[in-house]
Formats: sequence, structure tokens, C-alpha cells
Amino acid sequence: MYKTHSCGEIRSAHIGQTVTLAGWVHRQRDHGGVTFIDLRDRSGLVQIVANPAAPNLEMIQNVRSEWVLQVTGEVRRRPAGAENPNLPTGEIEVDVKVCEVLNPAKPLPFMISKDEDTEESVRLKYRYLDLRRERMQRNLKLRHKVIKFMRDYLDEHGFIEVETPILFKTTPEGARDYLVPSRVHPGCFYALPQSPQQLKQLLQVAGTERYFQIARCFRDEDLRGDRQPEFTQLDLEMSFVHRDDVLALVEGLFTAMIPAVTPHKRLLSSPWPMLTYTEAVDRFGSDKPDMRFGMELVNVGDIFAASDFMVFQATLKAGGVIKCLVVPGCAAYTRKEVDDLTTFAKEQGAKGLATLALTAEGVKGTAQKFVRPEEVAALQQRTGAKEGDLILFVADQRAVANKTLGQLRLLFRDRLNLADKDLMAFAWVVDFPMFEWNEEDKKWDAAHHPFTMPKMEDLPKFDTNPAEVLSDAYDMVCNGYEMASGSIRIHRRDIQFKIFQLLGIQEADIQAKFGHLLEAFEYGAPPHGGMAPGIDRLVMLLADEPNIREVIAFPKNQAARDLMADAPSTATDKQLRELHIKVDMPQE
Ligand code: AMO
Ligand code: AMP
Repeated sequence: MYKTHSCGEIRSAHIGQTVTLAGWVHRQRDHGGVTFIDLRDRSGLVQIVANPAAPNLEMIQNVRSEWVLQVTGEVRRRPAGAENPNLPTGEIEVDVKVCEVLNPAKPLPFMISKDEDTEESVRLKYRYLDLRRERMQRNLKLRHKVIKFMRDYLDEHGFIEVETPILFKTTPEGARDYLVPSRVHPGCFYALPQSPQQLKQLLQVAGTERYFQIARCFRDEDLRGDRQPEFTQLDLEMSFVHRDDVLALVEGLFTAMIPAVTPHKRLLSSPWPMLTYTEAVDRFGSDKPDMRFGMELVNVGDIFAASDFMVFQATLKAGGVIKCLVVPGCAAYTRKEVDDLTTFAKEQGAKGLATLALTAEGVKGTAQKFVRPEEVAALQQRTGAKEGDLILFVADQRAVANKTLGQLRLLFRDRLNLADKDLMAFAWVVDFPMFEWNEEDKKWDAAHHPFTMPKMEDLPKFDTNPAEVLSDAYDMVCNGYEMASGSIRIHRRDIQFKIFQLLGIQEADIQAKFGHLLEAFEYGAPPHGGMAPGIDRLVMLLADEPNIREVIAFPKNQAARDLMADAPSTATDKQLRELHIKVDMPQE
């Protein structure tokens, strides 16, 4: 080894010892002939001192930030008054005896030692430098700890890790596939798996019973802060289980893991609450509710059954709902502030936003002139709204009212600081609809994925009313994010075939795309189910990071590019010829 010790581990117990260290120059400064270097390696920083009498002093004076050095010296106590209580190594310093430059460095595009606001594109271009920063090192270590905990826990619970192919066939999860052309089979393509879904089911047919994998998934979809084109799941699957067996396993894993990897985080409740999809959307306006705070949506349609307010009347008559949200302490909002909220509500799809402000001088707000005192009294009774509060109303179709108020709820979460970042509010959302109407293509889509088992009692509704068919799918949510999805799977060929048909897949296509799975189901497929927590999203939350790029070593940017390697890039003519591919560039 180039070193006898790590920089960050030297303490006063080492005083008097000669140590050899190797690392990067974090900072270098001169004070009246004495040169100080903060030498950094993965473990931390230590102060190196070169006195005027030090050998190769001139060389030491010339080193610059991020040069790689090997230093041998004696550990000694820092002079009184020179200690740094903020540094674990702050009581000591290393008096240089020998210093060797292992590699110099050009001036860097940004400072490693300062957490300055460097533009993300520059950080991504020089990701290997960005990753030297303490914050990123911390994130990488946390990610490692999370994955190690998962592996150990699942191993202890009888799971085995199995790798599944990346070059495979379409495994739909609702996004576009990434395709890889085959050289040896002209005109044919592999698809990168959007998840190992089919493969883990086939492993159940294979008798694995308890499978997991730290699995890379590939999805060509629009990117957001919590989405990358390739990301990592803790993918797991179990045989001979019901829904609650899968939930208990995953809840046990997460409940044990959080205190082990992030002791400063607290679980809001244990066991975790369980909501149906309908309940989650009705109460929180979202199927991934942030349950760290209250402020639930309240249905007040009945209170306004005889309202003089045209908007309310017309909505109720048309079969819509009137729902409200009580915003604590915001009764003094100005006209402008209310207008801004209205604009926001309209962006979410609502036709408008009605308000009532409960002020000391009486009721105010845009709906004030339409409401009767007994309606206000009933509202207060129902919602607990009190003087100083602002009530926001949306009258619309149920889905629009829920979505709009759900987004307003999140807006006030951030504006009023209602959610504690160290609280982890895990919850289960169950009983999802099986199908979603795709307005664009005028067909039914699978709400989760097509391998999910419908509720058996809903089978008769298949042909008459697909919208009402519920499925045995479940989500794990936390702090407003969908952290994991899963389901009990179909293990019968006839049901799986019917689902594919209902999704509008032609019979020939069913055979071509999923024939292998359907056939496998005919050879004794056990009942099975599983789920897949997203590791990037989990680590993002645990690390208090605003997006998943911060917890992925080499992420793509928002335009799905790797700025460091400049990928994707063009292929050579020779490569294209070998792959039997002609590029047809879009017209500008
Ligand atoms: P699903 O598609 O819901 O289910 O994905 C499961 C979890 O993976 C994470 N996730 C993502 N993370 C980052 N970037 C993305 N683009 C992205 N897409 C999904 C989320 C999500 O909850 N095969 C099923 C699971 C199963 O049924 O067992 C599946 O992939 O945290
Ligand atoms: P109007 O009668 O259209 O002038 O609306 C009166 C008030 O009701 C305004 O503050 C509108 O923003 C609000 N409003 C209009 N449509 C709705 C709706 N569907 N739900 C809630 N408030 C609405």
C-alpha cells in the first residue's frame, strides 16, 4: 500500500508515530514560511505541515489543489490555539519528512473543497470530480449501505439473488423499450427489460420460491427529478403467498433498515397504515399521499346541497363534487395571493377556485357573498376550520377536484413547512383499478402491468365494465413518493390471455410477445406475487436530496444524455452496415 493509515483516522493516540499517507491536496496555504496542506482521502482530512526546514520544501510550496501526494511524517499535537474542533483530526497535524508528488492536476473546473453552486451540466461533465465532494461520497456510501442491508436481510429470509438478462424481449411497464439491434439476426432487436417482471415470474415457475435481484431497469420515457432512463430496483418475487405476506416481508425489511442506515430518520408509524386507492385519492388527492401532515380534503357537497352559488349548484347537478381544503393561518391572504392560487388551480385542470377566509371581522373571500351563515357553521363543524384559516373550494368532477386540491395541499406543505424531512411516513395503498382508459389510443391500458391478478370477484365485470375491475396490486408510498409497486400475479394461462385481449393485443402478437410466458403457465406455475422498491428514490429520500441524479454515480441529464462520455453518439458506417441499419434522420 502507498499508505500506512487513512487521513481521517489519525488521532492524538497516534502522536509520536511516523505515518505514511496518500491522497489529494484539498487546500494548500502558506503562513510566514510554513506551508499547510489539508490532505484528503475517502476517510477525511488531515493537516500536513512543512516547516521552513522541511526537505523538498520548494516542491511542497508548489503543489496545487487536487494534486495526488504521498506524505511520510510524524504525528504531533497542534500548538495550543491551533486546534480545529470541527475536524475529527483537529487535535493533531503531520510534520512532513518526505513528500512525493504521485500525480499533478490541472486547475479544476470547480472547487472540490467548496460546496459552491456549480451548474449541474458542469458537474455531470466532470462527474468523476464531482464525486470527490463530501456530499457525493456520503451519498455513494449510503447507497452501498442500503443495498448491503437489503442483500443481508433477504438472504437471512431465505431469498436467493438471481441475475436475469439485459438483452431480452419486451417486458412492458408502460414506457417505450430501448432496442438493441442484432448483428447475427438481421432486422431483429433485443429489448432491454423495463423490469425483470417476466423473468422473475418464470423463476417462480422454475421453483425458486424466493427470488431477489438488485436489478437495473431501462425505460425510454420523459424524465423528471424522480425518473431516470436506467434505474435500480430491489426486485423481489415469492411463491405461495398472498398479498399480506409480501407486504409483511417488505415492511419488515424497511422497518429494520431505516434505523440501521439512517438513525436520525424516524418512522411515523409502525405498523404502516393501509389505504385503498379510492381512500387515498379522496383524502389526500393523490395515490401517493404525503402522510407526514394532516390537511385532508373534505367533501362538503351535502352542506351546499341548496346553495345559491351557481358554480356549486351546477356542479352538483352534473354529478360532480364540492371539496375543500383548510389552510391554517392564511385568512389574511391578499387578493393577489388568492389570484395566484386560482391560477395554480386552473393549471391543475380546475375551472376555478372559491375561497372563504375566516377573519376576526367575519367571513371574507370569493365565495363570501354566496354562502349562508348556517353553511359556514356546518363547514366549521365538519372541517374544524377556525378563525385565521383560509378554506379553498373546488367544484368539479371528482377526479379533477381531488387532483387540484391534492396539488394545493403539497404547495402548502412546502410553503408552510408542514412536513418534517426526518420523518418517514410509509403507507400501503391497495385495491388499485385494474385498467385505465387511454383516451389517446381509445383503449384500456393495464394500470400496473398486464401480469397483475384481477380481484376474482370482479371477473364478471371484465366484459361489461372494465373500469370497475379492481386488481391485487399494491404500492408502497412514502412522503409523497411512490417507492415501490407490486402485485399478486396471474398464474393461469386463460386469465392472462384474456387480459392481453382486453388490452387490445392481437392474438398473433400475444403469441409472438408473450407465448413463452403463457406456455410456462401450463407447466405447473405456482401462485406467486412480489414487488419492486426503487432504490434510487429511496436513497434520495434518505439522503435528503432533491432528485435521484444526486444518488446515482453516473446519471443521465434531463435530456437522457451522459454529458461526461457524450452518449448517445453516432455509430460508424461500418458498425451500421454490420447491424444492417440505415439511419433515416428527421427533417429539420
Ligand atoms: P413499477 O414500474 O411501478 O413496477 O416500478 C417499481 C418502482 O421502481 C421505481 N421506478 C423508477 N425509479 C427511477 N426512475 C424511473 N424511471 C422509475 N420507474 C420506476 C419506483 C417504482 O415504484 N415490475 C414491477 C414491480 C412488480 O410488480 O413487482 C415494476 O417495475 O420506485
Ligand atoms: P364566477 O362565478 O365564474 O365569477 O366564479 C366565482 C368564483 O368561483 C371565482 O373565484 C372562481 O374562481 C370560483 N370558481 C369558478 N369555478 C369554480 C369551480 N369549479 N370550483 C371552485 N370555484 C370556482
